[in-house]
Amino acid sequence: MRTHFGGALTEEHIDTTVTLCGWVHRRRDHGGVIFLDMRDRAGLVQVVVDPDTPQAFATADRSRSEYVLTITGRVRRRYAGTENPNMPTGMIEVLGKEVHIINQADTPPFPLNDDFANVGEEVRLTYRYLDLRRPEMLERFQFRSRVTSMIRAYLDRHDFLDVETPVLTRATPEGARDYLVPSRTHQGSFFALPQSPQLFKQLLMVAGFDRYYQIAKCFRDEDLRADRQPEFTQIDIETSFLNEDAIMDITEGMVKELFSTLMKVDFPTFPRMTYDEAMCRFGSDKPDLRIPLELIDVADLVKEVGFKVFSGPANDPRGRVAALRLPGGADKLSRGQIDEYTRFVGIYGAKGLAYIKVNDLSAGLDGLQSPIVKHMESVVFQVLERVGAQNGDLVFFGADRAKIVNDALGALRIRLGHDLGMLTAPWAPLWVVDFPMFEETDDGKWTSCHHPFTMPRCSVDELTRNPGTAKSVAYDMVLNGTEIGGGSLRIYDPAMQQAVFSALGILEDEAREKFGFLLDALRFGAPPHGGLAFGLDRLVMLMTGATSIRDVIAFPKTKTAECLLTQAPAPVDTRQMRELGIRLREKAE
Ligand code: AMO
Ligand code: AMP
Repeated sequence: MRTHFGGALTEEHIDTTVTLCGWVHRRRDHGGVIFLDMRDRAGLVQVVVDPDTPQAFATADRSRSEYVLTITGRVRRRYAGTENPNMPTGMIEVLGKEVHIINQADTPPFPLNDDFANVGEEVRLTYRYLDLRRPEMLERFQFRSRVTSMIRAYLDRHDFLDVETPVLTRATPEGARDYLVPSRTHQGSFFALPQSPQLFKQLLMVAGFDRYYQIAKCFRDEDLRADRQPEFTQIDIETSFLNEDAIMDITEGMVKELFSTLMKVDFPTFPRMTYDEAMCRFGSDKPDLRIPLELIDVADLVKEVGFKVFSGPANDPRGRVAALRLPGGADKLSRGQIDEYTRFVGIYGAKGLAYIKVNDLSAGLDGLQSPIVKHMESVVFQVLERVGAQNGDLVFFGADRAKIVNDALGALRIRLGHDLGMLTAPWAPLWVVDFPMFEETDDGKWTSCHHPFTMPRCSVDELTRNPGTAKSVAYDMVLNGTEIGGGSLRIYDPAMQQAVFSALGILEDEAREKFGFLLDALRFGAPPHGGLAFGLDRLVMLMTGATSIRDVIAFPKTKTAECLLTQAPAPVDTRQMRELGIRLREKAE
């Protein structure tokens, strides 16, 4: 049917007769001449139909937005003054001679052309196939497709094998709830959808495949946010006989190549920062280094002050008292804005947001404006000196359990950076390394910081004695404050694997039951191995400047994990349930 993509026509095609197939993006009637902006996979092109061709003109006149047309016509240069430099085809147009309607369209529930604005996401997701017609969306998916093909080319070049792993499988612990699939042939038993291919990729290393990758779907039933979906895609990588530096080099090389080819951005070697340093300076294990603000500890200076809000956490080993200096902030933020930021840190559990406005250091206490100075007059100048305060600065304070202070001031730092336009660079990648093995849960148990197969930096003995201080050989790649990838070297010694399970409170029988196949495999000559997985959706979101990963996933789920388009999840009929041996419980009143 088609000779050319309309969106790909250029001045080279002038005087060529072409047949286009596509959709009416917009139709304008300019007193006697009809303009059709026609849209296809390659973009938009303007078609002009004039009354000299009465049949074509009548058909164009009957056409409406989103009708499917085929048009034959001649490409010509646009008249001087009517060129559109904002459009790739803006120098030319097609003079339509024959117009046929292939299919009509109902009026779309929202405009797909320039009038698209403030359309609710619910409508967009319900009619996703229409939303995806918008050039902006198409461009994102063309970009995503270029990313995956470049990744495949890079990994192929580095001798990685693309291997598929099962989707119907056993639970893989990555810290979220599992999606379960009931078995018909084994009633009462369930498959779990993989939270990642972690266990299988390790088994592929035991198999001797040496270098594996997969662009793999992962499933996690967890609270959703702008950068989390229940079903998402990893670029999953595993290697044998490489140390952590080599693994980081290969994967960093891949991200650099993507940015340099697709974004024309050349990154220098990514800086590496330990987890401890990241938490101390930025209150986060995924610091956004574009924002030039840092947390500074002042606990040692306020241990003795009468102000219990500070001295309490300062004397508590799990407490933290930290300051965040905002240069020039005294004039930038009003009392009302400070109140708003105080509410904001409340989301993270902070009970308040103490501050000092530094008006004039030479005026002593009279030069400071603050609700807390009266409680700590003896040390206030030491604190201000520690944080490097200058006249005109605003210094915020957080005092509480370390986790709350880190979360609250860490988030405040990001919020201030954006609100006050302080970003110093468009991109800031880094590695965060030397994560702890475990973190303590609220009920005093240990959970893995990464996952239970991560190699510790200590012996079985030390790990058993001091799980709380053990570090792991784990690394995260962070870009602009988003964790885009994470990985580790793995345990390949069954005794160490057993010790980690014990530290996690997984009893030997339970470990056998859940991971017996892995423990067995480790006894059959497992090579040292390690890898990493990137969140493909997050990476593409950042590269395309989208604000949510939903915008780079063709058919995403809502924040409550449903698909508005297909109405999944959905009830199933009783026959199917009976076959599965499942009966629903009565809903509690
Ligand atoms: P991890 O759990 O850190 O590691 O996941 C790796 C990367 O996947 C992305 N990601 C997500 N993206 C969208 N929605 C989600 N719900 C979601 N959860 C995670 C993140 C993250 O950095 N098996 C290990 C990897 C390894 O050790 O090799 C793993 O899955 O970008
Ligand atoms: P108060 O003693 O409650 O009047 O608080 C004095 C100042 O300390 C106010 O500005 C509060 O916002 C602030 N504040 C209270 N609790 C904390 C906390 N845990 N961390 C930081 N500032 C706090």
